[in-house]
Amino acid sequence: MGKKIAILASGNGSNAENIMNYFKDKEEVGKVVVLLANHDDAPVLKRAEKFGVPTVTFSKKELEETTKVDEALKSYGAEFVVLSGFMLKMPERLVAQYPNAMVNIHPALLPKFGGKGMYGHHVHEAVIAAGEKESGITIHYVNEHYDSGNIIFQAKCPVEPTDTADTLAARVHELEYRWFPEVIAETL
Ligand code: GAR
Repeated sequence: MGKKIAILASGNGSNAENIMNYFKDKEEVGKVVVLLANHDDAPVLKRAEKFGVPTVTFSKKELEETTKVDEALKSYGAEFVVLSGFMLKMPERLVAQYPNAMVNIHPALLPKFGGKGMYGHHVHEAVIAAGEKESGITIHYVNEHYDSGNIIFQAKCPVEPTDTADTLAARVHELEYRWFPEVIAETL
């Protein structure tokens, strides 16, 4: 039996779905045991249902001021936590419970274009505004600061002169789908 994986997500959850799909027949490597989301109406919740993965929702306040998330992770026996399109800062308290067992994906080449406010389309807009010739993905361990834990893996793609945030996001998503599940499997 592989490691028990929890996914935290905030919205659409196309990466979360890709991860659930990857692990659905790889229980000897890892099993997604729960998906937690910080919006009651996040589309990612429906995606989890499709795979029979139980879901838990919580508010920003509950994450920061209660142990609801901690208890949920514990009750499902989560051994490895994946932040997949998760837009809130992880409290230090929770980070400390998963040493070298909590990873995040960031849609750019850290250490550039990371930090507070740098998420989703904001990242791609900043990359284009800076005239970057390439962007990509960074998969890294989570620490108590935004986007600054040790880097596990990066992959690059070009930024085309005609790119908008949407076209660049689509190219970056392709890299995420290609690499994130595999990198998780190797990091578990
Ligand atoms: C992904 O591109 C992910 O890298 C990014 O949000 C997107 C979520 O898409 N994450 C961050 O910006 C975290 N700071 P998805 O919900 O379809 O997977």
